[in-house]
Amino acid sequence: MQIFHTISDIRAWRNANQRVAFVPTMGNLHAGHLQLVREAKKHADQVIVSIFVNPTQFSIHEDLANYPRTESRDCELLAAEGCDVVFLPSVETIYAPTAQTTVTVSAVSQNYCGASRTGHFDGVATVVCKLFNIVQPNVAVFGLKDFQQFVVIQTLVRDLHLPIEIIGVPTVREIDGLAMSSRNGYLSERERICAPKIYHILQHARDNLITGKTIVDVETCAISALTHAGFDVDYFNVARRSDLQFATLNDKELIILVAAKLGKTRLIDNLWLDR
Ligand code: PAF
Repeated sequence: MQIFHTISDIRAWRNANQRVAFVPTMGNLHAGHLQLVREAKKHADQVIVSIFVNPTQFSIHEDLANYPRTESRDCELLAAEGCDVVFLPSVETIYAPTAQTTVTVSAVSQNYCGASRTGHFDGVATVVCKLFNIVQPNVAVFGLKDFQQFVVIQTLVRDLHLPIEIIGVPTVREIDGLAMSSRNGYLSERERICAPKIYHILQHARDNLITGKTIVDVETCAISALTHAGFDVDYFNVARRSDLQFATLNDKELIILVAAKLGKTRLIDNLWLDR
């Protein structure tokens, strides 16, 4: 496995390869990321993973400085998974001091995580666009746990006519149902025991929607269950999967989206429902 730090190294490698699949990450890799690499391998001869803790997607109160950086372990895991190239750029490589351009994907960035994390999706859209331009992949693979991010990227690719196929991979969960996330490592022992309740409450909400409860009732009931379990709820909403607008009675392809804090750790999760 080769490790590159500069854009010119990536360009030289890219020119020598036909079909490339790309997995952008912020490192601190877990089984969920490795699943993305496995999926990427199905779509191309060469797989490239980037590890870049993107400063522009963190707001000032967030955990940029403490975000876990585990690059050598990440590279070992990627090599074992058969990844071909790791791109490890510096912040200056991605953001020149003279840079003036930001990518905004407007409507789908507005609600849910976009409402509580100001500028977050501009940071994600900008860095993903830059990485796409550097790597020029044929295919890029993202986890569906960050479903709003997934829709932001799909919209960006569509609107900017980027010739890249975007593939979503279902959330990988711990045995007790907790969605895998680099942030799970922040949970205390007690919080870790409580954390899977977020998934159980999502499942309960889905069952309630299937049995005909109204969306408002389901949302209210889930928020109170989460609060009772010790979560500080950011949002719990039933949305339309296609465009992430709030769901109405007649919508068929739904997603239930949740973000809630347990102590200092912000967890997000979602569950699909077709009716
Ligand atoms: O999902 C992530 O890890 C990040 O948001 C991404 C897509 C790598 C952009 O920094």
